[in-house]
Amino acid sequence: MSVSRPDFIRADEVLHDQLSPARVRELELTYGNQELLYGLGLLELSGPFTRVTPWELEDERGVRRINASGFAAVPFGDMPPVLTAFLHDFLDHSRAMGLPQQSVSPWRAALQANLVRLLARELPSHAGSQVFFCSSGTEAVEGALKFAKAWRPRSKYQISFSSAYHGKTLGSLSLTPNPEYQDIFRPLIPGAVTCPYGDLDALGRLIRRLGPDNVTCVIVEPIQGEGGVNVPPGGFLRGLGELCRRHGIVVIADEIQTGLGRTGHWFESAAQGLDADIITLAKPLGGGLTAVGATIVRHDIYKKMLGGLSSKRHSNTFGGGTLAMAVGLKSLEYLIDHDFPARSLALGEVGLKRLQELKARFPKLFEEVRGQGLLLAMQFRPMVGVPLPAALQEIVFEATAILALRELHGAGVMANLSLSSKRTVRLTPALDMPDEVFGRMFDRVEAFAQTHPNARDLLLKTPPAMTAKLAAFAASKPKKRTPSDG
Ligand SMILES: Cc1ncc(COP(=O)(O)O)c(C=O)c1O
Repeated sequence: MSVSRPDFIRADEVLHDQLSPARVRELELTYGNQELLYGLGLLELSGPFTRVTPWELEDERGVRRINASGFAAVPFGDMPPVLTAFLHDFLDHSRAMGLPQQSVSPWRAALQANLVRLLARELPSHAGSQVFFCSSGTEAVEGALKFAKAWRPRSKYQISFSSAYHGKTLGSLSLTPNPEYQDIFRPLIPGAVTCPYGDLDALGRLIRRLGPDNVTCVIVEPIQGEGGVNVPPGGFLRGLGELCRRHGIVVIADEIQTGLGRTGHWFESAAQGLDADIITLAKPLGGGLTAVGATIVRHDIYKKMLGGLSSKRHSNTFGGGTLAMAVGLKSLEYLIDHDFPARSLALGEVGLKRLQELKARFPKLFEEVRGQGLLLAMQFRPMVGVPLPAALQEIVFEATAILALRELHGAGVMANLSLSSKRTVRLTPALDMPDEVFGRMFDRVEAFAQTHPNARDLLLKTPPAMTAKLAAFAASKPKKRTPSDG
């Protein structure tokens, strides 16, 4: 007997583009994170966008943009042929269970072996390390925090750094010192302490004050991504490692954004002289197609939490799933075959030089430009130059980056905000973006700067009706939205 399902949308309808862009927006605004999508819609940034090439997307009017967004999780552009061709083969030929869970799996076996061997090539002390797979960056961090705590069960403090970003589930959020994300969830996990990023002396003093035996772990991004692309002073990470080793404190290198090539090295922490006990990976490992997170852990620490009958102490349902592992394995192979970290380092130098030239030419627009490899940042001057009360200042800072993002879109470049740095917009292009597209992207950033030579132009060039709607949105209480509200 067939059941009438008048409201159900069939997969084929989506596959064959039978949902119009307007209907997609309406459904998203009704059933999804409507405030976020409404805000982006006001800025004409909500899409949907479709793929023209892996590196270029277009909106429903056919306007094309070079994609330098994706929050560093799109290493080869959208739907890269290397992965889509492989997926056809995989679906035709793989006979492995979809969710092997507690049985062994060829795909998981291969990916974890490759990850550990890759790491041990840089850091031989990791030759015996083991991997725990999950499905997001924040989950990889949660796992890392639990491994550290199980290793030092009587300790009670975890140290992270100012402007750090480790995720938004409760454990990782506790170590992401950003009041906007933390405040209404307090109390968070007890014992999370913040130290100034890059300040080794301050870290030494903090560890002494807390008592070294009381400190479980120090978690650090080798270059801060969401914090606005902050490269620590030379020697900081090496010194951090030596300090923690002296006291037996577990070091977690959060390489979720930096790892596997974006900043020009396989593991940025290793390149900066840090031999961390635990390394978290995620974003690029999923090839921009699937969710793969990994926590790589020294053997002894792994065993302490997951030894004998306690080996079920930490688990998840989907980590190590076959589709995710297969995409991860192929993504890693593509990165290795083409030595993309080296390309990223070289191309990043070209990109940073272009940004530095722009900063010199347009000092009233750019306050600072920063970056390493293909993790590049533009920090804008505030679009309102007069002193303002602190709360208003914060809003102006955020609006500056949001309007810059919109104007960059207008110039044909999709970029990223930075979740823990209000005035910073980041460019995180694919590691395999062709030179010509890469150059064109900077020509477009230059065109954007030429039309907005002063940060206040970001405000002046925004249509007044849009500014009014944005201001009303910023001031409003959450309410039910529809696309027609815009
Ligand atoms: C360094 C770092 N750690 C953790 C995370 C959280 O990853 P996810 O968004 O996959 O949970 C991010 C995300 O931006 C990150 O950059």
